[in-house]
Amino acid sequence: MINDKKVLYSGMQATGNLTLGNYLGALKNWITLNEEYECFFGVMDLHSITIRQQPADFRKRARNLLALYIAAGLDPVKNCIYYQSHVSAHAELGWILNCFTYMGELNRMTQFKDKAAKHSDNINAGLYTYPVLMAADILLYQSDYVPVGKDQQQHLEITRDIAQRFNSIYGDVFTIPEGYYGKRGAKVMSLQDPSKKMSKSDENPNGSIYLMDDSDTVLRKCKRAVTDSDSEIRYSEDKPGVSNLLEIYSACTGKSIEESEKEFDGKGYGEFKPAVAEAVNAILEPMHKEFERILKDKAYLDGIIKENDDKARYFANKTLRKVRKKVGFTDIPH
Ligand code: TYM
Repeated sequence: MINDKKVLYSGMQATGNLTLGNYLGALKNWITLNEEYECFFGVMDLHSITIRQQPADFRKRARNLLALYIAAGLDPVKNCIYYQSHVSAHAELGWILNCFTYMGELNRMTQFKDKAAKHSDNINAGLYTYPVLMAADILLYQSDYVPVGKDQQQHLEITRDIAQRFNSIYGDVFTIPEGYYGKRGAKVMSLQDPSKKMSKSDENPNGSIYLMDDSDTVLRKCKRAVTDSDSEIRYSEDKPGVSNLLEIYSACTGKSIEESEKEFDGKGYGEFKPAVAEAVNAILEPMHKEFERILKDKAYLDGIIKENDDKARYFANKTLRKVRKKVGFTDIPH
């Protein structure tokens, strides 16, 4: 608990172009949570270097991500929005937790297997121990809830296992976190292959709507989205393409799936697909304007970064001091 509120933690990697999946599965659900929870949202730049980055481009992407958080509606005064690499406690706790994580557990991580297959020329140890650093992120802030998309569920489970193992040895050090999933949009699928999740690293750019896509591009991608042989607009397991579009429509408009189905009852894809695009653009267009405005205001952004870094450091170091004591490191003289 911080200020009598439960703690909520999440973040995104500063790699690639963020997709509508990142927004609907995570960012969108973060916006209003600060009323009820003490919220921390990291720009996960330490995780990003598990894949080789071009330094100048990487620096820009990390700053853009921070600006995008704010542009999407996260108030940087009510939420702690900060860079993971500015708080060295993440790397330190990550190392310590490495020594409480078994290789057998890491071998089971499906995201590692996927990423190793995609980057077979650079299967580094960081990619392998990635979930341990993620556990450190979450546990450092004594987080109760972690709002993420379904693809992160396995990482959350290993975080709980590591925390429980540590607590069973040293007493109640860490809060055991729980996943927090949105009602809609927890798994947005590719527009070109609805059996795969929409992903920043998809080779086919038509499969993903990027948060920076302009309205014409969004419309074009929605029109090209793979659907089924019949023309019925109905949510069903045997209609994955249409169901995904309904999911997107419902998540963007706030209407239920049933309401959305009714709205398009008897209508064809010719009406449905542009309506999906319009619902997406109604979110993206104002976000683009805010993003440009915030990025231009260098002094404002720098001030936010400084303040929130300090806040994150304060809470992270509190947990790290406790952990250091528990494992038996000698005190650092002042
Ligand atoms: P990342 O950067 O891959 O994704 C950021 C968030 O977007 C969600 N997401 C999706 N949700 C629905 N449909 C999709 N197609 C889709 N694609 C991505 C992800 O579930 C995630 O919530 N390991 C994390 C970053 C991280 C983190 C953390 C998250 C590092 N430390 C601590 C929470 C807590 C990641 O790579 O997310």
